[in-house]
Amino acid sequence: MSSDQNSRLTKATMDIMKKLLGADTLDQALSESLSSIVGFLDSEAGILWFLDKKTGRLFPVCHSGPDDISGVSIQADSGLEGVVISTGKPVRIEDASQDPRFEGTVFDSQSFKTSSMMLVPLTGGEGPIGLIEVINKKDGALYTEDDLTITSRMAAVAAMTIEEKGLIVDTGEEKNVLISLREVTKEYPSGDTVLQVLKGINLDIYENEFVVVLGESGCGKSTMMNIIGGMDNLTSGTITIEGKDYSNPSDAELTMFRRQYLGFIFQQYNLMPNLTALENVQFIAEIAKDPIKAEDALAKVGLSERAGNYPAQLSGGQQQRVSIARALVKNPRVILADEPTAALDFASGQEVLKVIEDIVRNQGTTVVMVTHNVEIAKMANRVVNLRAGKIASIKWNLDPISAEEIVW
Ligand SMILES: Nc1ncnc2c1ncn2[C@@H]1O[C@H](COP(=O)(O)OP(=O)(O)OP(=O)(O)O)[C@@H](O)[C@H]1O
Ligand SMILES: [Mg+2]
Repeated sequence: MSSDQNSRLTKATMDIMKKLLGADTLDQALSESLSSIVGFLDSEAGILWFLDKKTGRLFPVCHSGPDDISGVSIQADSGLEGVVISTGKPVRIEDASQDPRFEGTVFDSQSFKTSSMMLVPLTGGEGPIGLIEVINKKDGALYTEDDLTITSRMAAVAAMTIEEKGLIVDTGEEKNVLISLREVTKEYPSGDTVLQVLKGINLDIYENEFVVVLGESGCGKSTMMNIIGGMDNLTSGTITIEGKDYSNPSDAELTMFRRQYLGFIFQQYNLMPNLTALENVQFIAEIAKDPIKAEDALAKVGLSERAGNYPAQLSGGQQQRVSIARALVKNPRVILADEPTAALDFASGQEVLKVIEDIVRNQGTTVVMVTHNVEIAKMANRVVNLRAGKIASIKWNLDPISAEEIVW
């Protein structure tokens, strides 16, 4: 670092300290400090994440950049942020296009691409309290080791000052865990070797949330759903349902679990062609443990009028809604949906999403849904990104949009 750069850095660092110590509101101080750092590094974007130790999540307390990311929080043990929090060491992604560790940032979209980035921990007396992320130099250059030193020094001062001021980010209520996957793996024999499809999945599914699972074709989404739903067994690891171990269930346990606990919706509607819409739903109600009335389930999906129609007399979207009614009639705690809108056009897909939204928001049911459609992910409380059999990231959406606002 040149001596000129060094004295500029000292000045900027002092400036951050003064802003933080003297500010009326800490929010404002933090965002001004972040602006100082982003400005000093002549960068396009920056985020200051705070670790909420109670929920284990990172929240963006301020950002400067192309998008409003205030609705996004992430699990503190996922992604590069997780590496920084757990090791307390900074990470520099010099060239994002070449670096296999890079998994995208919250800013990445059609109009914004991360080319270079740095993540630096904010380290307090008892370990990391958060981190600062800076993205893309405005002149297109890549971040250097010097840049990392600069950011680390600024972050050290910021962390010290923040602790001095005693900022605590508290984001709220405890969640009730329904289903828990720990180090779940799934292998298939393939000739002389084995195909590793799931490579250690750790995921909690909470009561009354909408989880969307995204990921490329073949990354293991359906496999994970089938394991959650007890339709496939795992190779190693554990799965617990409300604390009870279901890793190696007996057939009787599995049947009970599927009857009492779960509803399924698939891409194919799987309706019985020789039964009417209502009969298709009644048929499931008869084998469920604690069903609601088939008529009520059909009403919930807006199809009371079509109760007497056979599947062939219904549109794709209507058939899918019948299959949702079949899941609903069981009165399940969790509904698993694997690409329920994939075969539908936009309007029918949106109808189906409205029903799913109602299930989550008004009936308190948990829905886990696989989709290829990133627009649908905006409706979710959490978005799980699966990549090659592992969870690449989990993002929280504090302000999910409604099905009506979705366009694709
Ligand atoms: N019964 C099986 N035997 C062998 N390999 C399997 C089996 N089921 C799935 N696989 C393999 O496991 C991998 C993951 O499959 P999976 O169906 O979970 O992917 P996916 O993420 O749901 O993909 P898509 O988006 O295309 O539905 C694939 O490589 C697939 O070929
Ligand atoms: Mg699939």
